[in-house]
Amino acid sequence: MSKNIIAIDGPAASGKGTLARSLAELLGFAHMDTGALYRATALEVHDAGLSAQDENDARDGAQILAKKIAHATRPSDVLDNPALRTDQIGQQASKIAAYPRVREVLNKIQTDFAENPGGGFKGAVLDGRDIGTVITPNAPLKLYITASREVRAKRRLKELQSRGISATYEAVLKDMRERDTRDAERKTAPMKPADDAIVIDSSDLDASQMLEKAVSLAKERLTL
Ligand code: DC
Repeated sequence: MSKNIIAIDGPAASGKGTLARSLAELLGFAHMDTGALYRATALEVHDAGLSAQDENDARDGAQILAKKIAHATRPSDVLDNPALRTDQIGQQASKIAAYPRVREVLNKIQTDFAENPGGGFKGAVLDGRDIGTVITPNAPLKLYITASREVRAKRRLKELQSRGISATYEAVLKDMRERDTRDAERKTAPMKPADDAIVIDSSDLDASQMLEKAVSLAKERLTL
């Protein structure tokens, strides 16, 4: 099993995704945005005419996705899809993420990737909600990135606008509040920092300051 695993968790728009991507690039590690697995499952459920209200239907959507990923060269070939980035898909993803049968299917994709990122990578960075607590509990470096909900809503609004998607601050804030509550309060693998995670509040830090902090922690804890 690869010892070079970095687990990054936190709520939506906390900056964890940007950090995970840039950290992976800098260290020569593979990166998996695990939220995209839940988003892509929600899209498969929709496209196959299945019901997101039904756990077995949602599990079937996850299995369709798992097959596509198994046949792809890299998971990112399936997951780098702009259609996954809307807030509607984010909400649907958060709903189906509460089903244990969906998580079981998607957990396997994540643990396989963490153990064997392939492609000559020296390690793996995974970002999500339960990476440090469930997926890679033995990761030598676990980060939990937070920021106030208002800061996160402003960031998300900017991101949506930059992609030409119109939205209001109030709607984005409401969406975030609902998603935070659902993700943190579900029974299976709720969003929370692992006991040994380092919590970083990104409210007053820019991307390069976050990266600097994470790189110095990685140098202390991993074999680079
Ligand atoms: O990080 P994101 O916004 O793309 O994630 C979308 C949803 O997927 C999120 O609201 C909850 C779910 N998710 C999860 O339950 N576990 C993960 N490891 C990642 C995401």
